[in-house]
Amino acid sequence: MTADSGKNALGDTEGREPEEFWENLYREHRENRALWGTRANPLLVEVAQCLPVGTALDLGCGTGGDALWLARRGWRVTAVDISATAVEQTRRVAQEAGLGDLVTAEQHDLAHSFPEGGFDLVSAQYLHTPFELPRSAVLRAAAQALNPGGRLLVVDHASVAPWSWNQDPETHFPTPEEIHAGLELPTATWGVERAQRPRREATGPQGQTATVTDHVLLIRRTPQ
Ligand SMILES: C[S@@+](CC[C@H](N)C(=O)[O-])C[C@H]1O[C@@H](n2cnc3c(N)ncnc32)[C@H](O)[C@@H]1O
Repeated sequence: MTADSGKNALGDTEGREPEEFWENLYREHRENRALWGTRANPLLVEVAQCLPVGTALDLGCGTGGDALWLARRGWRVTAVDISATAVEQTRRVAQEAGLGDLVTAEQHDLAHSFPEGGFDLVSAQYLHTPFELPRSAVLRAAAQALNPGGRLLVVDHASVAPWSWNQDPETHFPTPEEIHAGLELPTATWGVERAQRPRREATGPQGQTATVTDHVLLIRRTPQ
């Protein structure tokens, strides 16, 4: 099994469509902000806090924690997800924070459509799904959507937390090098700034903690 396919703790995906699967998940947890919540991802914060403010694209935005964090710092954010409920929740948290003008939330199945525009930062945080997703093609489109000098940050799981939907010990998590190779980008135009496997203390939906490993790839499009 890969990190992107299979049977998991959320149930059997057999015969289900990706949109229905993720939509049901977010609907079930609409009243329970504990699921992924509106916390920003630590590696997004670590990277973006050092960057000049600009335009950002969040791929698989979930309930909007990263979009909210970026908008609070002045970024103009396009946040996309396959789940209409996740998109609506992202829009709502931005509006409630008075940041509705800075956050555009759009529903996309990235297997089939990609948002318009050029971006200074594209972030894909744990863009994992138990369904087929041409992730390399999506991330290649993301790299192409970077403005000159812009960055693509990919943060993947490299180990499973005890509360993760994926408890398959056979899961292969692509390494930063494998993710980069899959992009098939000319290195003269997109340089690698980080390819790392940091460990961190993660907090689960019930407040439980565990040490997990991530795979991090940060590439930058050459400034013109
Ligand atoms: C593991 S969650 C990560 C959510 C968020 N980035 C975070 O770090 O909390 C994966 C997200 O990708 C979204 N997703 C899965 N397949 C997708 C697709 N084909 N197109 C767009 N979004 C998708 C899911 O709805 C979900 O919000």
